[in-house]
Amino acid sequence: MAGRPAIFVTRILPDAVTARLQRDYRATLNPDDRAIGGPELTAGAVGHDALLISSREAMTADTLAALPASIRVIATCSVGFEHIDLVAAKARGIVVTNTPDVLTDATADLAMLLILGAARRAGEGERLVRSDSWHGLGLAEMLGRQVSGKRLGILGMGRIGRALAKRARGFDMIVHYSNRRRLPPELEQSATFHADPDAMLPCCDVLSINCPASAETRGFLNAQRIARLPDGAIVVNSARGAIVDDDALIAALRSNKLFAAGLDVYENEPRIHPDYRTLPNVFLLPHLGSATLETRNAMGFKCLDNLDAVFAGRQPPDRLV
Ligand code: DGY
Repeated sequence: MAGRPAIFVTRILPDAVTARLQRDYRATLNPDDRAIGGPELTAGAVGHDALLISSREAMTADTLAALPASIRVIATCSVGFEHIDLVAAKARGIVVTNTPDVLTDATADLAMLLILGAARRAGEGERLVRSDSWHGLGLAEMLGRQVSGKRLGILGMGRIGRALAKRARGFDMIVHYSNRRRLPPELEQSATFHADPDAMLPCCDVLSINCPASAETRGFLNAQRIARLPDGAIVVNSARGAIVDDDALIAALRSNKLFAAGLDVYENEPRIHPDYRTLPNVFLLPHLGSATLETRNAMGFKCLDNLDAVFAGRQPPDRLV
């Protein structure tokens, strides 16, 4: 029906979100559910007032410059926004919104799953059972590492980092963290603060990466920093692949400098560094951090709340620019 704003939607959303989207807007859906970008995205955007995208659609300065003038708002169904050139969007007068808060618990759960999966060799164990190769384990086989009593260093103590700390305390882990700013005592909850992330590394039996990808954090976990971790440490990443130097991590897993790693995010995902597939001591998940029905519904509804606000002339609650 003409009159309702037209939204170009790049990915398939959960049913309840799609139903509300179609009730309130003229929505052009992408039934192929594949990431699109560049000319395909800008051509698709013609005749629309807004884009509803995911973190897989790169909104570079060139793509933003090529968008039709009718696009007033881009709602990304993600908390991360490193895929959007915010300066270029602002320069074009396009409002950009994201979905903070609602994926904190799901992503922190996933980070804890990575810690446990890596420490207890869950991937190897599952493969053993599935391949019918489990013939009864000896007392010295498949020995993992216990997490209780171990030091967990959290790089990035925002909402997700703090939710992970809460979970880790439930497993009797001792929490250290490094963050741009020290947290007030009620949020710090007796965790040990390290102003310099490099100084935290020797205290990490487990290092969990929970900071956003930025110019400052890109390639943070390189060979020199891995060398500062205790021998036999575990590294998990549920934030962004770009923060880890894949070659350095793979070398450390291969040499057993690290006991294990747990990864949910990768540089250039889904085309991950092929060597990860060959290593038994890395627990691999396909960017599942926010992938629960409850969380994806909440993220989709947040996108719609933000679009509703813009088209009603109000300030969207999650405005980035
Ligand atoms: C996010 O919201 O940033 C998650 O990583 C999903 O893209």
